[in-house]
Amino acid sequence: MCGIVGYVGKNQALPILLDGLKRLEYRGYDSAGFALFSKGNFEIKRNAGPVQGLVDASLECGKTETQGIAHTRWATHGAPNETNAHPHRAGDIVLVHNGIIENYSEIKTMLSREGVKFSSQTDTEVFAQLIEFRRREIAKKSEGATAETILLNAMKQAMTEVEGHYAIVLMSQSIPGKIFGIQNGAPLVVSNLKTGALIASDLQAIVPYHNEVCFLPKGEIFVADETGVKLTSASNKGLSFEKIDWTADKVEKAGFESFMLKEIFQQPLVVADTLTGRLPVDQKSSFIWDHQKAHEVLWKNVKRLYLIACGTSSHAAMAAKYFFERWARLDCQIDIASEFRYRSPVFEPGTVVGVISQSGETADTLAALRLANQAGVSTFSICNVPNSTIARESGFQYPTKAGPEIGVASTKAFTSQLTILCALALDVARLRGLQDGKESVQASFTGLARLPQDLDQVLSQSETFMKMGETLKDQRIILFVGRGTMYPIALEGALKFKELTYLPAEGFAAGELKHGPIAYIDPKVTVITLAPKDEWYSKTISNLEEIRARGGHIITIGTEGDEEAKRLSNEFIGLPQSSWGTQPILSVIPLQLLAYGCAKALGRNIDKPRNLAKSVTVE
Ligand code: AGP
Repeated sequence: MCGIVGYVGKNQALPILLDGLKRLEYRGYDSAGFALFSKGNFEIKRNAGPVQGLVDASLECGKTETQGIAHTRWATHGAPNETNAHPHRAGDIVLVHNGIIENYSEIKTMLSREGVKFSSQTDTEVFAQLIEFRRREIAKKSEGATAETILLNAMKQAMTEVEGHYAIVLMSQSIPGKIFGIQNGAPLVVSNLKTGALIASDLQAIVPYHNEVCFLPKGEIFVADETGVKLTSASNKGLSFEKIDWTADKVEKAGFESFMLKEIFQQPLVVADTLTGRLPVDQKSSFIWDHQKAHEVLWKNVKRLYLIACGTSSHAAMAAKYFFERWARLDCQIDIASEFRYRSPVFEPGTVVGVISQSGETADTLAALRLANQAGVSTFSICNVPNSTIARESGFQYPTKAGPEIGVASTKAFTSQLTILCALALDVARLRGLQDGKESVQASFTGLARLPQDLDQVLSQSETFMKMGETLKDQRIILFVGRGTMYPIALEGALKFKELTYLPAEGFAAGELKHGPIAYIDPKVTVITLAPKDEWYSKTISNLEEIRARGGHIITIGTEGDEEAKRLSNEFIGLPQSSWGTQPILSVIPLQLLAYGCAKALGRNIDKPRNLAKSVTVE
């Protein structure tokens, strides 16, 4: 969602700020703006719409200024227009903000009573006005204090009044050469460059400049100048910087027409990276994890597993339920985080909570993790962004190694999540002494080892999948159906389709068709059926017959050489036969490309579908 960039140093600030905003576009936004510290005042520009509009409007700006803050806004309070775009000015200060101020209405009423006038509908302006109001109050009582001390005290005071998870970054007209900010639950990453300090809400805006970064701790106020970033807390904790292996080239399109297409094609590579160093020598040996001992203790004592996530990540969790139940005979319950956090989940001794998140910042998933942590049960995370809040707050981590995922519609992160979950479930089965005699266990070990190769083979048919996708643009609705491990893949296919094309698409368990959705079927309806040669094959074939009998248009994604499924379908996609654990990972690839092809034919914005955000940091 919203994105923040700030720079103070020796270089021209504006190009760094605008470059950062472009790199944060993928998070989802509807307006953008910046403020430069210029000749003792602020030069502020804001624009509703794409960052490029802001760039075009700024050609004459920022030639000499070396200090500024910038923002992309995803509207929560107030329409996505120029007035509500950040930065917001309040007297001496100018401020950008991520997150939500839950009690903004009460604070606004209090400030209005004191005569403060507001020019926007945002909670952000309320925060800016509150700091400015407290700054003036404190200044009256603090004769002799420096402008910086007064501002810091005002920020501290405002922090005690404001409720919510947020990050703010601001400049003061009275304090040239410095940028201030607060991390209070929404991430801020900083880096000390040779030429100054860079601050952002997201690694993507930093890695092109430096790969040593620090994720600011929660509850801290910082100050940045050309020498770097410091915390202002009484404890004066030093910042610990770490090297990130995300490089600038990883956040470029690398010749692909979109980030999403690049990410689809990266899947063989990132799945290989996710498995590198983890696969055991043989089925009797352990997978290799970063925290081996703790991992073994946890899984030997587990009695119930909750897997919690949102959106695409929740589909990975659903597929994993099949793995954990079958291989490890473990009670595995799946929930979407926005429900879990408000239910009354039963946490008993032996309960383990695993949260799955590409971004590691999803507000609902984070809240579910915190609920579990507060209940004192063991927690782990499967995250793709190193050092994200969810990764840091979970008991331990099984990181995916998909690298930066910029396309809003998740692809490579999903296949990496499935890969880790398949490996983890196999290993938990071993730890619980339950592997023996299960044919699917042996096959899935082999399936994992050859997965990158199989994914390459599937991707070699990408043109065919995309062309087939184009033909779907006039259908009334697209249904996705599958049984067993293919059911969550059907849900994921439908989600990809609606995210990218904005057309109606629904996913179902194939067995549920006759309990209602079959009423949809007519020749203007396409049913995409996942029918690999697995144990549910004959049942799924019966469903194909039922759809065919009612004139539905059928696309089947099955196993190479399956003449029976081909005969029953209007179009057939044959995939290599993989294992029970890895077939779902192969089967999602054609669905990603079908959605892609259709969205392209409809002229959709593929990397940034309307209304969506990459990192959903509000409820
Ligand atoms: C995926 O295509 C979606 N953009 C969305 O459903 C996403 O998976 C969901 O918001 C969860 O995000 P997370 O994995 O970063 O927590």
